[in-house]
Amino acid sequence: MTKPPLFYIDSSFAVPRLTEGLKAAYDLRPEPGPGIRAVATHGSSGIDAATMAKLPDLEIIAVSAVGVDKVDLAEAKRRGIHVTNTPDVLTDDVADLAIGLMIALYRNIPRDDALVRSGRWASAGMPKLSRRLTGQRIGILGLGRIGQAIAKRAAPFAGEIAYHSRRPVADVPWRYAESAVALAASVDILIVATPGGPATDKLVDAAVIDALGPNGSLINIARGSVVDEDALVAALVEGRLGGAGLDVFAHEPHVPEALLSLPNVVLLPHQGSATVETRDAMAQLVLDNLAAFFAGKPLLTPL
Ligand code: GLV
Repeated sequence: MTKPPLFYIDSSFAVPRLTEGLKAAYDLRPEPGPGIRAVATHGSSGIDAATMAKLPDLEIIAVSAVGVDKVDLAEAKRRGIHVTNTPDVLTDDVADLAIGLMIALYRNIPRDDALVRSGRWASAGMPKLSRRLTGQRIGILGLGRIGQAIAKRAAPFAGEIAYHSRRPVADVPWRYAESAVALAASVDILIVATPGGPATDKLVDAAVIDALGPNGSLINIARGSVVDEDALVAALVEGRLGGAGLDVFAHEPHVPEALLSLPNVVLLPHQGSATVETRDAMAQLVLDNLAAFFAGKPLLTPL
């Protein structure tokens, strides 16, 4: 396919876009929605059971994200609706950003960039020294595709790489920790790389954060739901956790007010897969899944 994905979707399918106006119109309709057979959605919207209920002809949900925690999977399964996501194509970008957050946090890149931009370098003098990243022990929570890509990138400069996941992963050289708390207690930086959803809800709780401690840092490029955000904010504010680099939050786009003035955090608006190259590849995969479905061929990336 040589055309951009949006051209392709409009020329190949009849696509009512769920704008706010259309959504409001749907919400007012007592009768079922029209014969919509496929929904293309992204990770932060997903689709809930109430919306699915308005689409009695729905056969497939194609999600432009690897994380499908905002899709009511139980309802989709109950109705026999196929669900696809976009794994693999975004792995490198998300892993790159995890490394970027660590470097930004340890070397105070946002703080020092702000100093130069403010024109106060000459008057303020040199800023407070930062911390060396090389040699830090790095723990990865969730050693799936993204977790492994992070480990491979971090291995050349980490003091040690360890991980925790539901079970040890075969054929990887990194130390396995029996629990999230045990992992946090044995590393300097804990990187969250698990899927979201009920199975990992608040997996990083107050005990894990305390185990990481005042010299430890938390990096989250996964889902805000995996971390007890109240516990995280309290620990950062009270100096019980050293720092945090966060691309995701519990209630996006809301970011806890208390984080905004802290010097020891780096905050990003959920940018893990947000490069032109990866977003094109994700859109293409959504369309390829839809095209395969309507051609009666096997789905490329079913859940
Ligand atoms: C992004 O957060 C994704 O799940 O792809």
